[in-house]
Amino acid sequence: MSEQFVAELEEMIHARAKTTSPLYQTILAGKATERLLRTFVEQRWPIKSWWTRNLTGVAARMDDLAIRRSLIENAYEEEFGALSNSKRHVETFEDFGKAVGVDPARLPELELFPETVAVIEHNRTACNDTNVHFTEGVASVLLLMEGQPPITDEGGASMMAVMRDRYGLPEWGYEFFKHHASADAGESGVSELEDEHTEPLRVMLARYCDTPELQAAAKRSLARAIELRHAHFDAILREAYDPAEPVFHYAG
Ligand SMILES: [Fe+2]
Repeated sequence: MSEQFVAELEEMIHARAKTTSPLYQTILAGKATERLLRTFVEQRWPIKSWWTRNLTGVAARMDDLAIRRSLIENAYEEEFGALSNSKRHVETFEDFGKAVGVDPARLPELELFPETVAVIEHNRTACNDTNVHFTEGVASVLLLMEGQPPITDEGGASMMAVMRDRYGLPEWGYEFFKHHASADAGESGVSELEDEHTEPLRVMLARYCDTPELQAAAKRSLARAIELRHAHFDAILREAYDPAEPVFHYAG
């Protein structure tokens, strides 16, 4: 029964994968403008900045040592990049921003779309509000993020390949996508790191989300998170995309 439940959650995630969003379709098709990519970074950054706090919010409530260690290891890698010989993951996302014309120093002060704030608030509550069962956070924040299918264009090229080949980004500019969303169409998960991170989440859900009430709550939370993130993606496209503007190409 519990494996069936986790499979249902993963099915919900796959049905509305990032690649079903017109925003990602535009970026993957090589049609993104500078303004769209800049806004993408500006509105995605605050959500990414919250990631480790959501991860450790769940870790703080995890009594199983092995699972807690895997969450903390994940957070450690996120904040230091030490296990992959990279750097703080958010910093590599800021580098991507720099390559498309964003000044990272300005990121913390930028005005956020209401749709962006709604995602941050949902994630913070699901993972850090102790009145909410932590399995809601596992399902609707951690699994939603780590359990994404590969993000690829129609030909099966990864986000990283698109950034490198279509938009001409230098390596320091697409480094983020090596560790996130780097898999090609044939692979099962978004990237190797994320594949490795999904397994403990499945175990947690199977073990701790073990009543019909908890399962229903986790599913509701995931459904809401999926709605909110697509509204956030749609807002970025609506506010920042005009196909009449030239397509972005890295000029150095
Ligand atoms: Fe990361």
